[in-house]
Amino acid sequence: MTKTRPHPFMIKTFEGAGQGHVFDHHDSLDPDRQVALLSQLEALHLGELAELIALMDAPPAQTSEIAPLDPLVPDAAQRATLAEAGWEALRAGRVAVLVVAGGQGTRLGWPGPKGTYPVGPLSNKTLFQLFAEQVLALGARAGRPLDFYVMTSGLNRDETEAFFEEQGRFGLAPEQLHYLVQADLPNVTLEGRLCFTAPGELATSPNGHGGTLFALRDGKALERMAERGQDLLFYWQVDNPLCAVADPVFLGAHLAADAEASTKVVEKTDPTERVGLVALRDGKPGVVEYSEMTPAQQSQRTPEGALAFRAGNMAVHLFGREFLERVSAPGFELGYHLARKKVAILNGAGVLVEPSEPNVVKFERFVFDVLPHARNHVTLQVPREEEFEPLKNAEGPYSPETVKAALSSRAARWLTAAGVEVPDGVSCEVSPLTALDPEQLRAALEGSPPASNAAGISV
Ligand code: UTP
Repeated sequence: MTKTRPHPFMIKTFEGAGQGHVFDHHDSLDPDRQVALLSQLEALHLGELAELIALMDAPPAQTSEIAPLDPLVPDAAQRATLAEAGWEALRAGRVAVLVVAGGQGTRLGWPGPKGTYPVGPLSNKTLFQLFAEQVLALGARAGRPLDFYVMTSGLNRDETEAFFEEQGRFGLAPEQLHYLVQADLPNVTLEGRLCFTAPGELATSPNGHGGTLFALRDGKALERMAERGQDLLFYWQVDNPLCAVADPVFLGAHLAADAEASTKVVEKTDPTERVGLVALRDGKPGVVEYSEMTPAQQSQRTPEGALAFRAGNMAVHLFGREFLERVSAPGFELGYHLARKKVAILNGAGVLVEPSEPNVVKFERFVFDVLPHARNHVTLQVPREEEFEPLKNAEGPYSPETVKAALSSRAARWLTAAGVEVPDGVSCEVSPLTALDPEQLRAALEGSPPASNAAGISV
């Protein structure tokens, strides 16, 4: 293959944008790399890049008025009514579900998409399998299969797709499972220069979970939803296997409030827990980061003694399809968040340098930035031990050990409620294909209690 030279006009354009250095080592690249780099550079919108770089010097956003918000905590009777409305929506085929799995999982350090991590306490089922089984079981119970969207990034798309396909999509029908790909954005150095992670390979990263909106639009998912009569999208993150996918109570609460967006939360009880909170910002619901709050706000209490700011964001949402169409339309400004990261990049001499301090800026969009734009928004509080234990770290909090323990404890509670004797310290697992909630488990085990073996109790 012959070498490919960049067009002089292209070189001039990049020079004009202060990025002419991207061609410095072009001649020494092998022909395939040259072609790949040129197409990567051609796809870059230099105008957009300049806007991103300008954000690095932008003054901090104006401070806004932050106030706590009381989440909805329905009692048993209310839950039953809400669940009935949710089931009705599921039976009518109004619901599609989407898991975002485009993250890089740097803290976990697993060599593959995070969804391929095995977390089943006894079965070793992966995150993806546990979710696929929930989707199957829900569809079977509702009598209407649900469309399941998996959002990946350009970096993990092939591996994710291959994983599902090799496993026979865990029983999901081909027309039910859809892959979406979010876009990547270039990383820049602290001086605002494009940089390389290997010769000819620009440093890029996925555009954040807010990229979901554009992936849904550009991947024609919103169109497909409209064609199939689906007006509700349940959204969750790949790292939380306790997530109750398309929870009928949540659906019911969203519908009862005629909401365009809704969020599930868990109660924050420790003022120092660094969790994003659903709160009111200038009177509108949104997510407020820990760092945006004063210590006094963090420890403010209600007359009953709970934390005033206690609605811990689980990153589980419901969105109306028309709302998604509106907030993903050209002209809607979602904004960016900047993060300084440590990334090994090539120096001017083409040598890879491992940084000791953050050296590049990564640009991301966050999905929760759409919340203030919703006509109505429901914040539903659920028990943390039942629905939230995300896999973030290789060890310590939110690690494989805590996630497996949380799944096992929840299974033990459900089994005990179904009348099964669970000895202390025994590992337990309830397959989504057996039951999606304690009531269904009780019915499933009626007359045929499970046997435990040395490994534990698995149903
Ligand atoms: P996190 O912010 O926890 O990031 O993503 P991560 O990639 O899982 O892990 P670290 O920070 O690199 O260690 C929360 C959720 O959002 C998804 C992730 O896949 C995860 O489900 N996500 C994040 C995306 O889908 N795309 C992104 O660009 C970023």
